[in-house]
Amino acid sequence: MADKKKLYIRTYGCQMNVYDSERMAEALGADGYAETDTPDDADMILLNTCHIREKAAEKVYSELGRFKGLKADNPELKIGVAGCVAQAEGEEIMRRQPMVDLVVGPQTYHRLPDMMEALAKGEKALDTDFPEEDKFEHLPKRPGARQGAKHRPAAFLTVQEGCDKFCAFCVVPYTRGAEVSRPPTRILSEARELVGRGVREITLLGQNVNAYHGEGGVTLAGLIWALNDIDGLERIRFTTSHPSDMADDLIEAFGTCAKLMPYLHLPVQSGSDRILKRMNRGHTGEEYLKLIERIRAARPDILISGDFITGFPEETDADFQDTMALIRAVGYGQAYSFKYSSRPGTPAAERTLVDPDVANARLQELQALISTQQRAAQDAMIGREVSVLFEKPGRFPGQMVGKSDHLHAVHVAAPELEPGDLKRVRITESGTNSLAAVVVD
Ligand code: 5AD
Ligand code: SF4
Repeated sequence: MADKKKLYIRTYGCQMNVYDSERMAEALGADGYAETDTPDDADMILLNTCHIREKAAEKVYSELGRFKGLKADNPELKIGVAGCVAQAEGEEIMRRQPMVDLVVGPQTYHRLPDMMEALAKGEKALDTDFPEEDKFEHLPKRPGARQGAKHRPAAFLTVQEGCDKFCAFCVVPYTRGAEVSRPPTRILSEARELVGRGVREITLLGQNVNAYHGEGGVTLAGLIWALNDIDGLERIRFTTSHPSDMADDLIEAFGTCAKLMPYLHLPVQSGSDRILKRMNRGHTGEEYLKLIERIRAARPDILISGDFITGFPEETDADFQDTMALIRAVGYGQAYSFKYSSRPGTPAAERTLVDPDVANARLQELQALISTQQRAAQDAMIGREVSVLFEKPGRFPGQMVGKSDHLHAVHVAAPELEPGDLKRVRITESGTNSLAAVVVD
């Protein structure tokens, strides 16, 4: 058999992209490509890009510039740009970087094999359509499709794509399109396939995952309960959720569904009602706090995570203080925070910017509060017994690392452990970004 061609994929941005890159690697695997860790000797380089904050496109162009030498050394090298920058920039990419052979938006990865045929003929390929069909159902599979996940006990599974919320700052509804849910039967068969390959934890993915509405009226909670019945699957998570879509059955599942882990990423973006309204978030700070209360009533030890934006247009000091007050009231286990970044084409792009130094100072202040809370949540774990799904060897010899129920990174000195072991451990120490533990069973 001829040697496999080498495929180098670099992934930026969200977990959806991580999942998409795995699927693309599989599709190209059917085409004779095997993944490699370096662009240097690759036959194909694919950048899977993210457009959520500004300068993304510029970063892609400068990254592409670095591949020029490789293309000069190997004219057969194929270079592709996928993801949301591909969707947003389209043809412009090939105009500015003529060495790019392939531009493909997130909705048409299933057409990759046809595009590869065009590339093989020396043509270029561009596809940024929003087709009707579901890309995941049409992605070609090599035998034993989800092999990418073979050695990893925790896997992602996309159940929903796109978003209809139109938050005033966000490009997702434009780059990923309208909200679409995959059929539950497909999701369950993919989950069974993953479990058959040794996966013990599945994180259901979607830009607005809790808006999931599958055929036959299946809700996200319904899907979780169906997954709960799969033998060998031990843990279920989901991300990312919108507060307005936290349905009662989903909240209840946190208290009753044994495999649903006590961790919820529930972005609020701001604590100021005025800004939340300007952001078109569809809820107030008070409503978010009430929701958190109900979720904690269902699952008292749940760890809450969030996303915040500082310096949204017209944000005043008083607005920012409302955000700080909300953070204090919730007590986050961890959170992501960003300085507002103006995205052309979004409603907020038309509005008056906050002084960038002020936005930065607020970001620093917010991040300091979040890290204090994160540290407190970690310290509170000391002495507690939790379960950990071990994933890989740690930084030091004999160490294994994995994730706790609450998604804390945990390391133990236990050379006998294997990736995929699920063990009860007792937390002994809390470090900057991880916990140390000893195995108790
Ligand atoms: N500026 C800053 N942050 C943004 N996010 C989305 N769009 C922007 C933007 N224009 C953040 C939000 C979202 C997360 C994925 O990225 O907090 O929840
Ligand atoms: Fe963007 Fe808002 Fe949709 Fe999240 S809910 S993807 S922030 S529009």
